[in-house]
Order: sequence, then C-alpha cells, then structure tokens
Amino acid sequence: MADPAASAALAADPATALELLRGGELAVHGRITTASNGVLYCTVTLDGRTAPCVYKPVAGERPLWDYPDGTLAGREVASYLVSAATGWALIPPTVLRDGPHGPGMVQLWVEPDEGAEALIDLQDPAGPEPGWLPIVQADVGGGRTALLVHRDDDRLRRLAVLDAVLNNSDRKGGHWIAAADGRLYGIDHGVTFAEPAKLRTLLWGWAGEPLPAEALEVLAALAEDLGGVLGETLRPHLTPAELAAVRARVGELHRTGRHPLPAPDWPSIPWPPV
Ligand SMILES: Nc1ncnc2c1ncn2[C@@H]1O[C@H](COP(=O)(O)OP(=O)(O)O)[C@@H](O)[C@H]1O
Ligand SMILES: [Mg+2]
Repeated sequence: MADPAASAALAADPATALELLRGGELAVHGRITTASNGVLYCTVTLDGRTAPCVYKPVAGERPLWDYPDGTLAGREVASYLVSAATGWALIPPTVLRDGPHGPGMVQLWVEPDEGAEALIDLQDPAGPEPGWLPIVQADVGGGRTALLVHRDDDRLRRLAVLDAVLNNSDRKGGHWIAAADGRLYGIDHGVTFAEPAKLRTLLWGWAGEPLPAEALEVLAALAEDLGGVLGETLRPHLTPAELAAVRARVGELHRTGRHPLPAPDWPSIPWPPV
C-alpha cells in the first residue's frame, strides 16, 4: 500500500496531482472487493513519478433507481470541483479520463493514517461525552441501545457544509479518510447533486445550528462562482435542473445561515453507519 506521508503530501498539492492523474499512464493492480461498484486500485505514472489512485470506470457503475445511469463518475468529479472551489480541499484530486476499461473517474489514493483518532463512537445513551456530538440512538442488540456520536471537529463540520451543498446521500463513517498530515478527505461522491433533498450523513451534530462565519464566507463565494466559471465546469457533469438545484441549495444555506435539518421524507442516516 501507499506511503502515508507521500500520499498526504501529494493530496495537498492538487496542481501536481491533477497533472499526474490526467496525463499519467494508468495501470490496474486490483479490484477493491468491498466496494459496491467497480472500484479499481491503480497507479498513475508520469515522467518517472508514480502515485496510487482509484479508477471507477463508468462501465462498472451499478444502476440506481434515483440517478441516471452512467453519471456517477461525473458526479464524483463535480463534487471535487465544488470542494476545490471552497478552498477547503476536502476531496482528493479527481479527474474524468479514459482508462483500460473505458472512461471513468480517477482519484488520488489517500492512505489512511492508522494512528488517527476515531471520529465516530458508540457511547452511553444518557448523552455524549465532552467533545462529541449526538447522531442517533442505536439498537446494539440484546435489547440495549447506545448513542452513536461523532466528534465536534472543525474538519467534520466543513465536510458537513460541503455535503449540504452537494446533497450527498452517502456520508458514512467509511467515507472519510484522515491523512498522515492531519487533513481529512471525503471519498465516494457518486450519489450527489440530486434535485430533491437527499442528504444522508452521520454528520448531524450541528443540525439547525448557526453556520460558522467561515462557512458563510465560503457559501457567498460559491454562490458567485456557481454563476460563473464553476457553473461552467460543472455543466458537463450535471443536468440543467441539478445545476439550478445546487445554486438554490447554496443560496438557501447562506440565507438561513444554519446547518440543515434532516429531510422528513428521506432516510437521513446511512445504515450500517460505517
Ligand atoms: N481516494 C481514495 N483513497 C483511499 N482509499 C479509497 C479512495 N477511494 C476509495 N477508497 C477505498 O475504496 C473503498 C471503495 O470505494 P468507494 O468510493 O467507497 O466505492 P463504492 O462506491 O463502491 O462504495 C473505500 O471504502 C475505501 O476503502
Ligand atoms: Mg463506498
């Protein structure tokens, strides 16, 4: 597997990473068997430099009832573009390109820091410990319940804001990776940008609370960007209605100034949570 420090350094240098991902020679090394879609562990090599990556060919996408076929790779790239526009760099560099199994998304592999502290936990149902926020009471078998919690962590809070913008429908605990340099990266953004509210996430700890000032600034900049260059770069990946919907979500988040609440008619928590 990849060297954690080298992988973190490249993820934090998107210009270099994007050049490598776009122009490098893609070699497939194996299939990630736990994945629900075709996810291939690969390397890209350019000018003597090699980096690990994931390659999800469009041809390997499992059809879903609520997203048009063949669009998940594009949604992953669109999610990356929005993340990059926030300046928060919450998604590893991601491109759409051709590969041995046809067009697909190619994303820089971020090696997890095995020593990183856990960001979710099961705690006493009476309430979260200091520094943790509640998600939901969970049935843990034998008639017992526990409180599922996530950390009160600024990186997670930014991810929660990004997910609200993306309308991410799959933010489980396995869909973020703590890198060796302490940064946090979200992965698996195929089910995003639907028109109806479909936010499904563990990150409900701030639901209904005022957004931090930095989030309001980012949302204001995003609103402008979506009406200009960012909107144009997203256009090939989304339907016109989806593009209008992401602009509306950004506007609404900025107007209300609050983290969103779960939609009443949609399962708001991924289960199992990891
Ligand atoms: N950029 C990445 N860096 C490191 N590991 C990754 C990355 N993308 C995916 N993975 C690993 O591959 C697994 C499957 O990928 P994922 O994007 O979740 O695919 P699926 O859509 O099939 O669930 C993830 O759970 C994670 O372990
Ligand atoms: Mg996944």
